Amino acid sequence: MNLLSKTTNAVPDGLAYFVDQIPEQSDFLAEVISGLSQSPKSIPPKFFYDETGSYLFNKICETPEYYVTRTEIALLNNNGTEISALIGTASNVMEYGCGSSLKINALLSALHEPAEYLAIDISHEHLIQTAKSVAKTFPAVKVGALCADFMEIVDLPKEFGVTGKAPLLFFPGSTIGNQTPGEAGQFLGRVRNLLGANGSILIGVDLKKDKNILNRAYDDAEGFTAAFNLNLLKRMKNELKAEVDVGSFYHLAFFNEQQSRVEMHLVSKRAQTITFEGSTFEFLPDETIHTENSYKYSLKEFSKIAENNGFTVRKTWTDQNKLFSIQYLVSV
Ligand code: TRP
Repeated sequence: MNLLSKTTNAVPDGLAYFVDQIPEQSDFLAEVISGLSQSPKSIPPKFFYDETGSYLFNKICETPEYYVTRTEIALLNNNGTEISALIGTASNVMEYGCGSSLKINALLSALHEPAEYLAIDISHEHLIQTAKSVAKTFPAVKVGALCADFMEIVDLPKEFGVTGKAPLLFFPGSTIGNQTPGEAGQFLGRVRNLLGANGSILIGVDLKKDKNILNRAYDDAEGFTAAFNLNLLKRMKNELKAEVDVGSFYHLAFFNEQQSRVEMHLVSKRAQTITFEGSTFEFLPDETIHTENSYKYSLKEFSKIAENNGFTVRKTWTDQNKLFSIQYLVSV
């Protein structure tokens, strides 16, 4: 199915267009059943971001332990002149997964007369909020919104990129790290096809580092990350009418050195069952639901993935502690 065949909804104030491909609610049910039927059990991370999840994620981004957000924003702010010189004037920018508008604001402020911004997010609430705020801050930029799962985009809204300038994908937050290296490569290949021969990507890639820094970043002392992870069980309870005792699971995050990834799990404190929609899932004590991976790369490892999938790394910016990188990838 061409995902863009779904209806174009009423355009929210300030936006040039809005295309809605909201994934069906049934996807949550189907994917949870499928994930819990596997061994080891898992639930896809895209379901983290309902209204509560998006709120909690913003809180995570402000914790002292989670260095990703503030390091990335500082990199954008400190290297704006160079970034702008590379990207050029009148750019057509699209963003996969628009979190807070701080990052896109930093980028659009740095760029020379950006022409367009297309916000893309799975969470309707977040999407419209970000798109509207960008439209207000940058009245000269044509702003559109696409509500979609960025893993499934095969076509861009026809309203995007009419100036003919090559598109730039902004993909911050090390969201690429939530896929395996193999999947990340395939993803870049699909982006290459979507953007065409002149397309480029400005991407945030998290780097390998001391495992204590990583373990803390994904298990903050205030408990926002734990609440964010456990919110998946609350969603199951509220939306799928699952019989589950949320308090009988706890959040676990650790750096798996061999795989170079932080793993996030929900651990069952005891033997128990979760029941919903006629399905029953049994848990042993300490059995986990794997909810997310966050891969950490060396600059060399990531550039290899890019090179193997239609891009070359034109320029990399890192902070002085080499915690995080922003990379400019151009099609080859
Ligand atoms: N893309 C983010 C990351 O991998 C997502 C994230 C941050 C996250 N903290 C989290 C996901 C905690 C789940 C739980 O860094």
